[in-house]
This record gives sequence, C-alpha cells and structure tokens, in this order.
Amino acid sequence: MLVHFVTDEPAKIPAIRAILEPQYDVRPQLLGHGNAAISTDGVLMVDADLRKPAPVEQIKRVLHDLHCVSEKLFVVQSHLHHMVTQAFALGATAVVSRPREIISKLEQIEIAQKAAQTGFAVASSELSDGAATFASMFSAIREGKPLKLSDAENATSEIISGIEQNGLGVWLDDVRRYHQGTFQHCLLVTGVAVGFALSIKFAPADVKRLGLAATLHDIGKARIPLGILDKPGRLDPGEEEIMQRHPVIGYELLKALPGISPEVLDGVRHHHEFLDGSGYPDALTAPEISDLVRLLTISDIFAALIESRPYRPPMSREDAYKILCGMDGKLERSLVKAFQSVALKA
Ligand SMILES: [Fe+2]
Ligand SMILES: [Fe+2]
Repeated sequence: MLVHFVTDEPAKIPAIRAILEPQYDVRPQLLGHGNAAISTDGVLMVDADLRKPAPVEQIKRVLHDLHCVSEKLFVVQSHLHHMVTQAFALGATAVVSRPREIISKLEQIEIAQKAAQTGFAVASSELSDGAATFASMFSAIREGKPLKLSDAENATSEIISGIEQNGLGVWLDDVRRYHQGTFQHCLLVTGVAVGFALSIKFAPADVKRLGLAATLHDIGKARIPLGILDKPGRLDPGEEEIMQRHPVIGYELLKALPGISPEVLDGVRHHHEFLDGSGYPDALTAPEISDLVRLLTISDIFAALIESRPYRPPMSREDAYKILCGMDGKLERSLVKAFQSVALKA
C-alpha cells in the first residue's frame, strides 16, 4: 500500500521509512517544497506541528490537492488535545500517537480498503463529517467563540441517516476504530441514543431531539482542564468534583443559543441524574426526570462502558448491558428492558 507521508521536518522522513519500509511504499513530501505527484490510492499520513499557522496552511493546500485520498492519518502526541482537535478539523479520518499505533492503524486501513473493494462498508462520510463537527464545536468553545446550533443539528442528522442506512453495529465499530477520547464518546452516545429512539419507534422529530441532546450532552467538557479530561486512570476526589461540573457548564454555554429547545437543555444539564436522587448536579428524583433524560442517561452509560481506550480493551456489549441491568432503582427498569435489543443486536 502507498503511504503519502507529509511532514514539516526532514528528519522525520528517514524515521518513518525505517518503521514502514519495506512493508509499505513510502512517498515523502516536505511541506513547502513543491508538489509531489500523488495518486488517489493508498493513505495520506501527516506528521507536522499543527500549532504553527504556516504548516497548517500548507497542509490545507495538500489536503485540497488530495481530496480524493479517503484515509487521512495524522500523527500527534496524544496529550496535546488541541492538536487532536486541529487534526480532525483539518479532515483527519484517524489520529495516532505512537509508532506501534501507526503500524496497526495502517493494517486496519489496508483490511478496510480490501473489504471496500469487495463491497463491504468502510468509515462513512457521516462519520467523518460528524467527527469534524465535534472537533470544531469543542475548539470553538475552548477559544471562547460562539457555538453554532446548526452545526450540531447537521451533525446529528448525518448520524441519524448513517445509522438508518448501516445499522448501529457498523456505527459503533467504525467510531471505535477511527476516533478517540471525548470525540469517540460523543459520537458513540449519539449513535446509541439514535439507535434507541429508532428502535422504540420515536417520531422523526423526537429522534432528532434526542440525537441533538446526545450530540451536545458533554459539550461542557470543552471547559474541563485537559489534564483531568484526558487522565488515563481514575480521577482523585478533587478532580472528580471539577469533572462533575460539566453538565452545568454545558447548560450555561447553551441556554442563550437562539433556537435551542428546553428538552435539549434538560438533557445536557441532567444526563447524570438518577431516579433515586443519587445523581448530579441537582439531585433530581424520578418525578423530575423526563423521558428524554432517562433515555439519554442509559445511552450515555452504555456508550461509556463500550468505549475503546488506548490502555484497555472495550467491554463487550453483553457485559455493558448486564451492568445497566444491575442499576435497578437508578435507571427505569422498563426502558432498560426496551434497550436490550439496541444493546445486543447489530
Ligand atoms: Fe456527561
Ligand atoms: Fe457522556
């Protein structure tokens, strides 16, 4: 397979060759040094400092020339969260941080491309559009810019049509294969919530409303310090207290947006509430928790359990569903029962 390697540092070219050759055919291009003759097959790999405006502008030009290459792999250091955001905003289909990950990602892409040639589905445009929208929403908020509700609505509609066409199972596998961290979580929750709404035959307007609430549910995390948000292990009590502010932060960010519905605001603020009053931030009890929030909470917990993390394999859907069943008293039993077909079927 061809690997078009684009970088801003000459020393990275022999380094990547040492890792990938002879298994892959590496075609290097140094940013700002003319145009490489590039064909449309293979994969584009970008390893450049995305914090500097000059390489970012040059990468945009390369990506414009190469819009036909479907796989765009960006190499970034995983702790630099804003570089991950920038990579997806530029059109990355996947982000990797270590040489070992590069090899396994290329192998996955090769398998997916072979499957595509034989007619199987690969990462869809709905997925890359949805991920790019999450990235731009998060970076807008981090930079103090206003969020556009229409972007979130469009991303939700794309996700709904992706799941209607290919089913939830394909969506979950693709999201876990191609995305990480907060983006992966938001894409998974939205997919699961939409799958849930479709399975219980919600009207289209209600599918959209729940999907939009899911898209925006953790938007307050854009204001949580990255050291806490991306911490690989357990949070200490002080960090946990800061993390638990995200529903109120999200609500405050969204409440004045023109056109936002009260149901969506309710979902953003209350998706960590439980029927027995043990949740946060308002310790609501059953009569105060709406149906939309109940569905969103189930989708959120399930999605968090089946997430793929660099340091542990994802939990199976069966085991995650068993955990939901054990949360009797906190989650509505009849809804957890209705969720079974979403949790366990493709
Ligand atoms: Fe949350
Ligand atoms: Fe969440």
